[in-house]
Amino acid sequence: MAVTTRIEEVRNEVSTLAQAAVTADDLMQRMVKLLHHRMLKYNWVGFYMLEPGAQPPVLVLGAFEGAMTPHTRIPLHQGICGAAASSGQTVVVDDVSKDSRYLACSLETKSEIVVPVFIHGLVAGELDIDSHFAAAFAAADQELVQHCAALVGKKLEGSRA
Ligand code: SME
Repeated sequence: MAVTTRIEEVRNEVSTLAQAAVTADDLMQRMVKLLHHRMLKYNWVGFYMLEPGAQPPVLVLGAFEGAMTPHTRIPLHQGICGAAASSGQTVVVDDVSKDSRYLACSLETKSEIVVPVFIHGLVAGELDIDSHFAAAFAAADQELVQHCAALVGKKLEGSRA
């Protein structure tokens, strides 16, 4: 008998959320709660979105679950968050203490993943997850977080068509 893994279950749950959510904001609020609650090593889960029209561009903290962070506005040349948004690439850091780009949010954080959110191929923001465990984000986690970011991108495309 096939065994459904936690990641597969959560993947299905976020897909269901995306169908039920009325707005992208609603989806992001519910998604951060779900990921934080269901994925035990996801100790801080939040969205940073590019501020519309800001020059130079800046990422602004949106929906999040976990302790308040000092980093509510992050320019694109700073942090792992800035690296993911400026490159349009997923960034996984297994040991944040060894990455000079890292902006500390909590002393307990050991590893981090940041996945860009795209609207019609352009970076609009990102989904950032911190873990108290080193190397918490394996390939299956990366796929889950990319799926989540893609669902939000689609919802944003629907609302800004
Ligand atoms: N660690 C991030 C900053 C955001 S906090 O983790 C919530 C970074 O290096 O960009």
